[in-house]
Amino acid sequence: MSAPTMDEAAKLFADPMAYTDEAKLHAALAHLRANALVAWVDVPNYRPFWAITKHADIMAIERANTLFTNSPRPVLMTQEADEQQAAVGISTLIHMDDPQHRVVRAIGADWFRPKAMRALKLRVDELAKRFVDNMAESGDQCDFVQEVAVNYPLYVIMSLLGLPESDFPQMLRYTQELFGNDDAELQRGTSKEDQMAALLEMFQYFTSLTASRRANPTEDLASAIANATIDGEPLSDIDTVSYYVIIATAGHDTTSAVISGGLQALIEHPDQLARLRDNPELMPLAVEEMIRWVTPVKEFMRTAREDTTVRGVPIAAGDSVLLSYASANRDEDVFDNPFRFDVGRDPNKHNAFGYGVHFCLGAALARMEVNSFFSELVPRLESIELSGDPQHIATIFVGGLKHLPIRYSLK
Ligand code: HEM
Repeated sequence: MSAPTMDEAAKLFADPMAYTDEAKLHAALAHLRANALVAWVDVPNYRPFWAITKHADIMAIERANTLFTNSPRPVLMTQEADEQQAAVGISTLIHMDDPQHRVVRAIGADWFRPKAMRALKLRVDELAKRFVDNMAESGDQCDFVQEVAVNYPLYVIMSLLGLPESDFPQMLRYTQELFGNDDAELQRGTSKEDQMAALLEMFQYFTSLTASRRANPTEDLASAIANATIDGEPLSDIDTVSYYVIIATAGHDTTSAVISGGLQALIEHPDQLARLRDNPELMPLAVEEMIRWVTPVKEFMRTAREDTTVRGVPIAAGDSVLLSYASANRDEDVFDNPFRFDVGRDPNKHNAFGYGVHFCLGAALARMEVNSFFSELVPRLESIELSGDPQHIATIFVGGLKHLPIRYSLK
């Protein structure tokens, strides 16, 4: 069989800069949805893959979780980074498949159920108020991303884990370096050694946390992870650390991107901000719309276990497919006017949290955090506008704004 031909637009998936220009990004994704729904991508430094851009195809692939597995390639990275991660042996929920995945996911699952969420709500509301109060007290201007949006979700996740506030700044650095590591401004250094050092430091932090929670168990998620057993055996060090890493990283940049991107959308659509202020009961729908609009997780990947087809395109056993949530959530076949920001959008079948057995474990927490924040902010806003150009982080995985300069007046 001759090699598949590549649509030039499909190169964007491996280009961190592509996600910094939303208009250009969405033009390219719309082109792929219309012309190359299952697009072959073969670019230097990456193992080739198929990019899937239609919402329905992504849902079908995620549903078929034995035909399309997460291992061995759950996210898009350079071939070199793929090999490095394999060497370190990190294996988080997103790297696993059933039956192991089901057992390991169950360890943390109780901490994200409605009962646990209700218990956490007071603390989340208190943090939301603290960050909005800070905005009010610190004057009438700020870089909303750096001063508010990156901190608040981290405080929430650290509270859930049960970690002291004094460790928060350190954790902030780790998660930014690991997730933002395609962005020159946030990188710790430029060399592979520097990035590896960030990873190892984070591992050390969590290894000592495990030891301390095993010696003195407490009522928090960190303790549940440290003291979990599978078939009567505790988790290995690497598995314990991997669990903390997925919670701390997955729960952080994702939610902060929705909060900052959601605020930008409200500022740029003053009619929608006014509508939300006048109709606070719309908040749950507005939260869903912000999540769809921002779609902070740009992609996940799956690997075909057998020869199969997607939309008639043959996919060979061993081929990788990239699920473009960024594209799916602007799919014209699923959303009326997908490029309209509508705080009352209903239905809103976005798949920003994925679908199926890997469906985001923290979805209820993320929704609650975004809801608490805007329920505090919106009624207190007397005015708000941009005071500079918003800038996006360079990434091919999780991302959103890195700067959102705003000027405001708050009650
Ligand atoms: C708006 C914010 C968030 C978005 C958009 C988001 C998105 C996602 C997506 C797309 C996946 C993969 C789903 C799939 O493969 O089908 C995922 C998995 C996951 N998320 Fe989230 N997430 C968010 C917030 C959170 C929070 C707050 C936490 C935890 C505190 C969290 C923890 C996880 C975990 C542990 C997984 C792995 C689940 C598994 O593989 O079984 N996420 N998330």
